[in-house]
Amino acid sequence: MSIRFDNRVAIVTGAGAGLGRAHALLLAERGAKVVVNDPGGSVDGRGGSGAVADKVVAEIRAKGGEAVANYDSVGTWEGAQNIVKTAMDKWGRVDALINNAGILRDKAFHNMPVEDFEAVVQVHLLGSAYCTKAAWPIMREQKYGRVVMTTSTSGIFGNFGQSNYGAAKAGVCGLANCLRFEGAKYNIMVNVLSPAAYTRMTENLMNPAVAPYMKPELVSPAAVWLASEACTVSGEIVFAQAGGFTRLQYFETDGVQFDPDQPVTLEMFADAFATVTDLSHAHPLRTIMGEMENKLRAIGKIK
Ligand code: NAI
Repeated sequence: MSIRFDNRVAIVTGAGAGLGRAHALLLAERGAKVVVNDPGGSVDGRGGSGAVADKVVAEIRAKGGEAVANYDSVGTWEGAQNIVKTAMDKWGRVDALINNAGILRDKAFHNMPVEDFEAVVQVHLLGSAYCTKAAWPIMREQKYGRVVMTTSTSGIFGNFGQSNYGAAKAGVCGLANCLRFEGAKYNIMVNVLSPAAYTRMTENLMNPAVAPYMKPELVSPAAVWLASEACTVSGEIVFAQAGGFTRLQYFETDGVQFDPDQPVTLEMFADAFATVTDLSHAHPLRTIMGEMENKLRAIGKIK
């Protein structure tokens, strides 16, 4: 089945370079009208230049596609509203939003200035929330929308020196987990991409042997599919790197269930810890209340 975006309008934040640029090019190739958002700037978010977004817009137009540049930062509510307004002013709708913009300010937690923690959370977590919130009423009104958040293994598994980034990147998963419920009635699907690619953000971190395979355009099919009408799932996390694609999921173990009518001691928990953490019967975690009710029913506490 051919995945097309004819008459669809997509916004890609941070689309002036790396992964965002590759997503924007693929969207445009498939017929989307694309807002290429990027204020330019260095990896740490300082400085700026409109030339970065302009270049990608020129690339899209040279191939016969439609695109418009926007230079606002996702990190302010005003900026996010203006990004969405750019799409509305030009084409009158927003069908897909890929929250991709990102910066890094890596430092061990004990050395990290609070400002660096805030700046990274501001762009990744609040920026994703602001842009989604600006697009949300439009998507609700038209009863159609696709939102893609961009997380990182640093948020899902952790990484030394990236407490600000990891916290923000785990945050966007939480945002998607909640919005999938709120968007369902309006055909708004909210999913998460966990990419890995050789970009300026990772050029100093990557094993040179794998770097040639870590092309951003090998990640974009996942991002763009999640942003398409073909995507009817919500709340998924797709990991994509070097042409490999997997699903990431939170799991819950069977654990233990003590009698809640009786006291639970520290020693009881300590003795049960190996069973609590035993993954052999783990299952995807979805509805916490349902799980608890099942457990209390199994030991005869509720009907
Ligand atoms: P990149 O540095 O090449 O691209 C990020 C783009 O975001 C830049 O063009 C930058 O100007 C733009 N940007 C920065 N602050 C912005 C703001 N306030 N508003 C709008 N745009 C802004 O980096 P890359 O690798 O392409 O990263 C894209 C996304 O993927 C980021 O969210 C990053 O955290 C995430 N990611 C990347 C991985 C990788 O292996 N490259 C791994 C995991 C996640």
